[in-house]
Amino acid sequence: MTTTQTTPIIGQATRRVTGPLKVSGQATYAAEFSKDFGPELAHGVLVTTMAASGRIASIDTEQAEAAPGVVRVFTHLNAPELPYEEPVMRPQVQPQVGDPLRPLQTDQIFFSGQTVAVVVAETLEQAEHAATLVRVTVDEAPADTNLHAARQRPEADEEQDTPRVSAPKKPAENSTMTGRPSDVTVGDPDAAFEAAAHTVDLDIEIKTLVNHPIEPHATIAWWEGNKLTVHDKTQWVDNARHKLALAFGIRQEEIDLKVDALNTAKDAVESVLGIRESSVRVITPFTGGGFGSGLRTWPHTFLTAMAARELDRPVRLVLTRAEMFTSVGHRPHNLQRVRLGADADGRLQSVIHEGWQETSVYEEYTMNLLNTTRMAYATPNLRTTYRLVPLNVQTPTSMRAPGECSGAHALEVTMDALAAEMGMDPLELRRRNNATHDVQGTPFSSKHLAEAYDLGAEKIGWADRPLAPRSMRDGDDWVGLGVSSTFYPANRIKASASARLLPDGTAQVHTAASDMGPGTYVSMTMVAADTLGLPLDKVRFALGDSDFPHAPVHGGSMTMASVGPAVRAACQAAVQAVIELAIDDDASPLAGASANDVRLEHGELIGPGGRETLMDAVRRHGEPVEATAASGPNKLQMLMPSDYVFHSYGCVFARVRVDARTGEPRVEKVVAVNDVGKVINPTTAASQTIGGVVMGIGMALMEEAILDPNFHRYANDTLAEYHALTNRDAPEIEAHFVGEPDYELNPLGARGVGEIATVGTSSAVINAITHATGVRVLSLPATLDKVL
Ligand code: MOS
Repeated sequence: MTTTQTTPIIGQATRRVTGPLKVSGQATYAAEFSKDFGPELAHGVLVTTMAASGRIASIDTEQAEAAPGVVRVFTHLNAPELPYEEPVMRPQVQPQVGDPLRPLQTDQIFFSGQTVAVVVAETLEQAEHAATLVRVTVDEAPADTNLHAARQRPEADEEQDTPRVSAPKKPAENSTMTGRPSDVTVGDPDAAFEAAAHTVDLDIEIKTLVNHPIEPHATIAWWEGNKLTVHDKTQWVDNARHKLALAFGIRQEEIDLKVDALNTAKDAVESVLGIRESSVRVITPFTGGGFGSGLRTWPHTFLTAMAARELDRPVRLVLTRAEMFTSVGHRPHNLQRVRLGADADGRLQSVIHEGWQETSVYEEYTMNLLNTTRMAYATPNLRTTYRLVPLNVQTPTSMRAPGECSGAHALEVTMDALAAEMGMDPLELRRRNNATHDVQGTPFSSKHLAEAYDLGAEKIGWADRPLAPRSMRDGDDWVGLGVSSTFYPANRIKASASARLLPDGTAQVHTAASDMGPGTYVSMTMVAADTLGLPLDKVRFALGDSDFPHAPVHGGSMTMASVGPAVRAACQAAVQAVIELAIDDDASPLAGASANDVRLEHGELIGPGGRETLMDAVRRHGEPVEATAASGPNKLQMLMPSDYVFHSYGCVFARVRVDARTGEPRVEKVVAVNDVGKVINPTTAASQTIGGVVMGIGMALMEEAILDPNFHRYANDTLAEYHALTNRDAPEIEAHFVGEPDYELNPLGARGVGEIATVGTSSAVINAITHATGVRVLSLPATLDKVL
């Protein structure tokens, strides 16, 4: 059987199939499933600590317990001990070293904002009130949140119990976000730097940023006997199920084959022996943003399930916006030093990129801070050095292009400084150093960066840009144009899906994927409809249920590249099953044909002796025809031996205005051009790009969780004071795509769109501010006091 693409569905701008549900309020997010429950639903509220280090000396719950409506107050003194079994296989997106935070299992305090109690009451208001009555005393120990000071300390040697600065203890080989080791040296970068005709050496700082999806994290959990069901805000229902099964030690005899797809078969067998994941179900059809905060399963989810079990009733817990700062990770504070050396023609001779990044004192969180630098530009000499600094903060987490976003920012600001030092056009400097392979010599599968530079330059009007900074003035504003390259790896891992063809002429396609906003629903509906030759409205696609076939993490920009081929494979398998039925059915014009001689075209099965539509064959069969299929490598594509580096590229151009009187920067226009392989749905690809640019502008100009140096607590933990870009601040944004389908990566040729748009934006904006004003801001965000 061959499937010929007959309908022009893939590549057509298509509106979200979930749009009407979302705008009419019918899309149900985790906390909103409370509508399914009556008064038996209890409400949990967290109590967090002000202290940043030490041990709980006493915790007084008497008043809280006596308050109206209170059902129970859980603390480390009365909470049941949970098994929290360790997976043999470390699933993706987990820190490699250390122990996850397990509140109420210990009296230890690691950071300010840590949960120390959960109050459960009949109503949310009663729980909120009672939570204010819990009195916690901490024997405080000295806390440390000073990354600058810690960076100056000598590196830890292995003898030390509490290293202050160290390389990651273990290459993060299983992590989605951290595929490769970070300390790499090629050639002799120090000698080449000394000898270079032009050099720059910058120290750059990126403060803590917080994932702030509109939907806060929330969980509803209930037990029926030993079966746990959960609605949880997550980007990965399968992992939430796995983690909950481990936390509660839910055991079984047989191996749950579904997890086979998580990793290599051997690892999977070891990892799930004894864990009955089918007794846990996670159902999350809608995820209102996440940017990475939904990759892990966080302590409040386990606590909600614990409370539900202890109280034998459903419990709902929604994080407050303030708790979103300290309960679900953040983009870590980091410091970077970048040295670039170029010859007289602007060809890079040396790239030295060092990074120091905070992590918590109980876990290592690693990200791809410096990996981009090894893909970015051609250079014979390079060194990247990545160091972690444990501080009294929660464990950081992935936030849209974790690592790449921060690392590329520093590299691209330093590239701009090098161009300025040479008196060269910064776009020309990038063109001259455009690489055909990574620093270790492996070629890219497909790269159309030069075309992206051309298109972006045309769209922003780069040709008219004067070279000198502070040379464009319009009324009270300095005006500037900046450019940045942008980068993001292309990844893929095994995923599976089921396709069910029904006698009523419709198809149902299921997979345990997520849609946190990029449009998984519509893009997968398109892939299924395209494969089956059906109109879009005949396909009903569902996701977000751990009982569906396994899907990988909805992160790393790899849902399209991973789940898309699985949806296609499942649909093809269902077609194959129909063909097998038809050739055995005397009533079919295909009767007696060999399956190999039948093909699907325009929704019709065509054989040597005749043709009929696919759905006519299903209708005559009278029962649904169903198939499940998996597609993709067992391990992340980037970890598989390959002749290619799979990577996406692009560029961002920004035009800014800076008020000459106040120093206030505003972004007027952004043009983003990306080479991401095949664009499946131009509408949602453009939307993702625009969203990524908005986030990048926020990072450049506004966003910062300000850590109080005395209390080690975020001082601006509201959305009123943690400034994110609003509609009023957002400029005109153009999203363009160049390049070709990347069939080396997957049969759809798509490399993923979600994260690359954020990567180059902050540096393009900073570079534009430098062009406008002559001021190079080295510590984000570029608030007006730094620009003036
Ligand atoms: Mo993204 S940080 O992979 O959700």
